[in-house]
Amino acid sequence: MSDELLIELINVKKEYSGKKGRVKAISDLNLKIARKEFIIIGGPSGAGKTTLLNLIAGLDRPTQGEIILFRRNIRDLDEEELAKIRQEKIGFIFQFFNLIDNLTVLENVMTPLIPRNIPEEEIVARAEELLSDLGLIGKKNRFPRELSGGEQQRVAIARALITDPEIIIADEPIAQLDEKAGKIVIDLLLNAKKRGKTIILATASQSLVDSLKKNADKVIWLERGKVMNKTEKKGK
Ligand SMILES: Nc1ncnc2c1ncn2[C@@H]1O[C@H](COP(=O)(O)OP(=O)(O)O)[C@@H](O)[C@H]1O
Ligand SMILES: [Mg+2]
Repeated sequence: MSDELLIELINVKKEYSGKKGRVKAISDLNLKIARKEFIIIGGPSGAGKTTLLNLIAGLDRPTQGEIILFRRNIRDLDEEELAKIRQEKIGFIFQFFNLIDNLTVLENVMTPLIPRNIPEEEIVARAEELLSDLGLIGKKNRFPRELSGGEQQRVAIARALITDPEIIIADEPIAQLDEKAGKIVIDLLLNAKKRGKTIILATASQSLVDSLKKNADKVIWLERGKVMNKTEKKGK
């Protein structure tokens, strides 16, 4: 089952209509993502990386083409069904952390589980366990502004992991961090892969792509919404 296909994009195109007319963000993109794969999406700013991640996460719909998420064509899903898949199966890590300012570290990590029917003590226990694993338990009652960027991103990772999602999507997760904090975040993602997670990482950094290539199952380089280069490990 390890090769089970989780996500498939077929001839996907995404256009935005803005003030200056239509912007083609993604053109004729084909991509298959199987369970436990580590996929890197590289490309300069404006290449379409975030657009692609939003499509993969079911946060947005394509202008053309098909997207199959967990064996369901998203055309057949309404917003509520799509949101449910997203909440259950996907953890999203953002470039700017996107923590909630007026919630503590612990409360931020707990948020994805609050809408579910789980006793609060259990949610607290799971959040505290994750914070311990990430070396942040001593800061659980602090607010995001009281943490360094690297610590905030680790909180965001704990928040993404608390639902135990199949897929972790990280959009330029270390672009705002110094080298040491960035390395910690990348190690956490590689560790999640070892534990069987599917990881999709976007970055504008060619050097990060080069340093992670050996760990990746697929590397895609995007420019102006098109795949310029794609390398896959043998057997994929
Ligand atoms: N909501 C939007 N409305 C209009 N244009 C957008 C929107 N989001 C992104 N774009 C445009 O789509 C292109 C791809 O953007 P994006 O996916 O954010 O690229 P990246 O993440 O690689 O920097 C860019 O030209 C960007 O300006
Ligand atoms: Mg982006």
